[in-house]
Amino acid sequence: MADGSSLYITTPIFYVNDVPHIGHAYTEVAADVLARWHRQAGDDTWMLTGTDEHGQKILRTATANGVTPKEWADKLVAEAWKPLLQTVDIANDDFIRTTDDRHELNVQKFLQKLYDDGHIYTGEYEGYYCVGCEEYKQQSELVPGAGEYEGQLVCAIHSKPVELLHEKNYFFRMSAFADKLLALYEERPDFVQPESARNEAVAFVKQGLADLSISRSTFDWGVKVPWDESHVVYVWFDALLNYITAVGYGQDDEEFARRWPAQHVIGKDILRFHAVIWPAMLLAAGLDVPKGIFGHGWLLVGGEKMSKSKLTGIAPEQITETFGSDAFRYYFLRAIAFGQDGSFSWEDLAARYQAELANGFGNLASRVVAMITRYRDGVVPAAGSLTEADLEIAAVERRATDASWAAVDRLAIHEAIGSAWELVDALNGYLTIEEPWTLAKDPAKADRLETVLATAYHGLGTLAVLLSPVLPKATEKLWTALGGPGTVQEQRIDRAHEWTIGERVTPLEALFPRVEVVE
Ligand code: ME8
Ligand code: MG
Repeated sequence: MADGSSLYITTPIFYVNDVPHIGHAYTEVAADVLARWHRQAGDDTWMLTGTDEHGQKILRTATANGVTPKEWADKLVAEAWKPLLQTVDIANDDFIRTTDDRHELNVQKFLQKLYDDGHIYTGEYEGYYCVGCEEYKQQSELVPGAGEYEGQLVCAIHSKPVELLHEKNYFFRMSAFADKLLALYEERPDFVQPESARNEAVAFVKQGLADLSISRSTFDWGVKVPWDESHVVYVWFDALLNYITAVGYGQDDEEFARRWPAQHVIGKDILRFHAVIWPAMLLAAGLDVPKGIFGHGWLLVGGEKMSKSKLTGIAPEQITETFGSDAFRYYFLRAIAFGQDGSFSWEDLAARYQAELANGFGNLASRVVAMITRYRDGVVPAAGSLTEADLEIAAVERRATDASWAAVDRLAIHEAIGSAWELVDALNGYLTIEEPWTLAKDPAKADRLETVLATAYHGLGTLAVLLSPVLPKATEKLWTALGGPGTVQEQRIDRAHEWTIGERVTPLEALFPRVEVVE
């Protein structure tokens, strides 16, 4: 939808036990591109990201480092997680920390309401817990350990031993919502995407939904259970609520009504929490369930999920320092179909940078601006009578605009970029055939030269607008060189092909300069 519909888009809130790697940056960039696209289509858009700071995982990391968990979180947020947003150029509207008062107080409000309404009871939890996942585990989810954990049962994800808990906990009567959840997946086939994620959620609920332990009493780093301060709220129950506490739940009804429900973008590792537990919590509280949940794939290293705990993380700066943030954004969203896993490789990144960004788009932009400068002293020419080839460029501009927006609406980010890229290819093909550099040698062809330059110039402006969510830095430079009105981000992306041309072009530096690839 465009024109004032509202889009509230979220990323997971990330654990601050360690610094971010390119997997976290990938999620940020995907959500940011969707948000920027909607913002530029006139939608009332809000993008939230943030950090998950409670629980045993953070507590243990802090303790091991000789500081309090809050000190640890403050440091990681300031030195790693907020800087990540600069590194990959995220235009988030808000950043929530689960240690914010606005969060903690309203988590308590939410919990108290569920308690008062009879959704919570006292029970006894006896079973396994993986601190890495911060998740209660069934025996069937564990695997035999290897190496130093030989002979023990370990978490299938972290390959580390799980802990056996036996404590008095408060339980959320989640089992009562199984039928409602199944009906929801049935009625709204797009509620959980992609299809593989939806199938996983359905299968999980169908196998029988247990109640959920939502408090812990053996440590105190968390939000206190309001009616029993000897317990803290289970970290996932606390964390999921960030999506509503950040937009006014419990304290600003108007803001809450304006924003909620959200489209959640997450990695498929945390699908169950978002597609099962979270909607059940909302149903219990009588609130709207999310607009949708999109579980994207994993960045893989050696066929396995890149992860902090397995020390296979690549720092985003390693890529952006050489290639820039635009290339980071483009590469991961273009090379991996959104929803599928993808392997990162320096060779593939360098090859696409050179072929698609430098030669395909960057060179096109430089050539057109340079020709208008050289042949027409920088004055933007007017088109004369149009040939079929000129009209086809205009048609591609319109098709690229419509198709990319339609793809964004389906969260098919890679397709949106692909649709916009048809215009890059069409313009390069057009220049090859029309040869404006040859036309320029013949004064009798001056009119045709002007028409060709005007057509290419117009196409380039449309491209700048269409690609601005993905390549904010390069497209702003291009927009300035084209002499377009205002900033590129102020242009309507759903009508990109209708942009208002400028009068003069100004010199354009190489958008994607040659890089020395190290590694
Ligand atoms: O799970 N490939 O936080 P987290 C792609 N705090 N994305 C990846 C990735 C990879 N290899 N590794 C991580 C938590 N991610 C909770 C979330 S939300 C209420 C609480 C991304 O720090 C992906 O988005 O472990 C994944 O879902 C998320 O980081 C997990 O981050
Ligand atoms: Mg994780």
